[in-house]
Amino acid sequence: QILTEEQLYRPNFHFTPKANWMNDPNGMFYLNGKYHLYFQYYPEDNVWGPMHWGHASSEDLVTWKEYPIALYPDSLGYIFSGSAVVDTNNTSGFGKDGKAPVVAIFTYHDPEGEKEGNIDFQSQAIAYSLDEGQTWTKYSGNPVIPNPKIKDFRDPKVIWDEDRQQWIMVLATYEKTLLYVSKNLKEWNFLSDFGEGIGAHDGVWECPDFFPLKVEGSDETKWVLLQSLNPGHINGGSGTQYFIGDFDGTHFLLDKELEKQLKIDEAIWLDYGRDNYAGVTWSNIPKSDGRKLFIGWMSNWDYAKEVPTYAWRSSMTIARELKLRKMNNSYILFSNPIKELNHFKTKVFEKNSLSFKSEMTIVDSNQIDINKSVIEIELSNLNHNTYTFSLENSKGDLLEFGINNIEKYFFIDRTKSGDLSFSEKFANVVSKAHFKNQFENLHIEMVIDKTSLELFFNNGETVMTEIFFPRKPMSSLKISTENESETTINKLVVSQLKFNN
Ligand code: FRU
Repeated sequence: QILTEEQLYRPNFHFTPKANWMNDPNGMFYLNGKYHLYFQYYPEDNVWGPMHWGHASSEDLVTWKEYPIALYPDSLGYIFSGSAVVDTNNTSGFGKDGKAPVVAIFTYHDPEGEKEGNIDFQSQAIAYSLDEGQTWTKYSGNPVIPNPKIKDFRDPKVIWDEDRQQWIMVLATYEKTLLYVSKNLKEWNFLSDFGEGIGAHDGVWECPDFFPLKVEGSDETKWVLLQSLNPGHINGGSGTQYFIGDFDGTHFLLDKELEKQLKIDEAIWLDYGRDNYAGVTWSNIPKSDGRKLFIGWMSNWDYAKEVPTYAWRSSMTIARELKLRKMNNSYILFSNPIKELNHFKTKVFEKNSLSFKSEMTIVDSNQIDINKSVIEIELSNLNHNTYTFSLENSKGDLLEFGINNIEKYFFIDRTKSGDLSFSEKFANVVSKAHFKNQFENLHIEMVIDKTSLELFFNNGETVMTEIFFPRKPMSSLKISTENESETTINKLVVSQLKFNN
């Protein structure tokens, strides 16, 4: 039986546009029960082109409804990445009849200027919505930040700085993050920059995010800077690094411990897999909720335009909650799937304390459709050199992942995972992530969709996200070690995800 592209590759529960090209998530805000998600979109083709903002929203961060295009290119240029805020106090004056406006802040990219060889072809602009993000009016005074003769000057992310009652914008240039401040979202003043000589710099900095986050189990708050970079990710192509420190109202001051670590490690990555890029967080999450919610583009510029889907291209990651923890004196940003995913789980089985020698099938297609599942496993007595999981199908396609306990890293190996023919850069490396801390038990949560694997190691301390294109649906998950001595599994929970569509 031959499956259609939709059947084989359209994700079961990750957002994809109905048709054509998508890249970065943009303009995410929460309002009246809805999580809005805009995205870089080209409605005419399945490859990148003149950028629009597509639009979708969700009530549960898992199932999405797509709406008509929100922003179209115009004489000032294409609509590149940016953010959106709910201007509750109507600081911008765009509000009407007591209704707070939603304000989008984005980059205009002028293709003509670029063609003419100018460097000042990107500027920042705003638009507002009085109907909760369905329709938008561009501001007549655009651009609000004209280009100061900087070639890469884009992707504004605006946040409300509660302590100082002001708007803060971060945007990216080639090798720096720039900070600006405003009282009304229309007039912006430059504050400071960050990034020279620190972090990964083997590409262009893009799509920053900047926000305060409470350190779990303490009264301390730290500021987090997410800074995407393309190329230059530790495992190749596009990736997102993060920095943690303080904000004094003008400067971002990097944590001293982290600064020391960055002299050794170059960068700390939000995700060590190759397919989580340009991700940012939702604005306007109610205080009563208090979570920091994130979503990323589940692809990589190394091969995004060539992946073997034609009706649509690319999907988003599962939405994630970010948390800050202090461990061994350093701050670590943890990511985990949003708890709403639990509502879609039906437990197939749970086993506590289980053991095997050499190899074991964890689950197969007689028990579950593994292509919409969440599998949680905890291993103890980690006395083997390697623990290798493999997701397999009857055509012999294999997606391997696990840990190398000698060299102390997690890995994903998609070099035998199915269709690799579309790009030489897709399976040219085995992605690795070195352990951040030692651990006694290994906990892994695997979120599996048809063409994606999201791995949350040790409760989200290290994350790896990768896509793959098997020639038939994956049908079993196995675990193996390098020899016959026994492995103990403390806990194994296999859940089927169910959706109404
Ligand atoms: C990141 C990016 C952004 C830009 C957008 C254009 O993936 O290059 O810097 O705004 O994509 O689509």
